[in-house]
Amino acid sequence: MAYELRIWFAVSIISLALQSLVHGKPQVPCYFIFGDSLVDNGNNNALQTIAKVNYLPYGQLLGFDKFIQPFATARGSDILMGVNYGSGGAGIRDETGQQLTLYKYGARKVAIFGLGLIGCTPGEIGSHGTNGSACVDMINNDVKLFNDQFKCLVDDLNKDLPDAQFIFINVTQISSGDPSVIGITVTNAPCCTVSPTTGLCVANQVPCNNRSTFEFWDAFHPTEIANVLVGSRAYNAQTPLDAYPFDIRRLAQL
Ligand SMILES: *[C@@H]1O[C@H](CO)[C@@H](O)[C@H](O)[C@H]1NC(C)=O
Ligand SMILES: *[C@@H]1O[C@H](CO)[C@@H](O)[C@H](O)[C@H]1NC(C)=O
Ligand SMILES: *[C@@H]1O[C@H](CO)[C@@H](O)[C@H](O)[C@H]1NC(C)=O
Repeated sequence: MAYELRIWFAVSIISLALQSLVHGKPQVPCYFIFGDSLVDNGNNNALQTIAKVNYLPYGQLLGFDKFIQPFATARGSDILMGVNYGSGGAGIRDETGQQLTLYKYGARKVAIFGLGLIGCTPGEIGSHGTNGSACVDMINNDVKLFNDQFKCLVDDLNKDLPDAQFIFINVTQISSGDPSVIGITVTNAPCCTVSPTTGLCVANQVPCNNRSTFEFWDAFHPTEIANVLVGSRAYNAQTPLDAYPFDIRRLAQL
């Protein structure tokens, strides 16, 4: 199974970045973020966990001039701009987190990101082998089952909560295409030296010398170029399958 990206996304990334610079005013009043290490920008630093996410966060397209504060350090009026509740290692089971506590507190525009092709991460390929395929197909089949149901959930929520709008971002679709057209040539190995036990970067090591040619930063997390691609197409869909029923830009305009 190919895990690939396409070039015209790079063009839209640049134009979106410029648009936010020019407008200088956020498109929505505040922005709350929930999820795992893919979005955690510092919440776990003081927790007793190896799932730390102590790197600077990457970019945003909705026009905020600073990053949404992590819950761990948000104070006072910070909350008016939103809070990032992402926590490395979080999940949807009761044991790992709760996510339906939100509508009751006033959330009305919700973008839900489906799972990406976890079976294509260097970590999973290393643990399971690919059996001659490009990725661990068994895991990607499960990803598809999960995402199909997730999309149904979005339909149900939109039906049951008519004054709110939920959208589904198809990360699988966004990351399908030929990665070499945006310069990514290494899709199956991490850019940094990873710990064999955690799959995370070992501190104070020199990373690969051109990170924009790598799809993965460590054994599980995409590099900036791959993240920017997902962010840009989630915000501004390039194909009808990228975002359902529409993209974040339109969600923000409602
Ligand atoms: C590997 O491929 C063979 C042949 O398609 C299949 O029978 C087997 O179940 C696969 N094993 C795994 C672990 O996916
Ligand atoms: C997401 O996109 C993939 C690849 O195009 C497609 O196979 C899958 O059905 C889509 N999933 C959903 C839930 O729309
Ligand atoms: C890194 O790779 C990208 C994509 O191939 C290329 O455009 C860029 O010039 C490279 N940068 C360096 C410093 O080699």
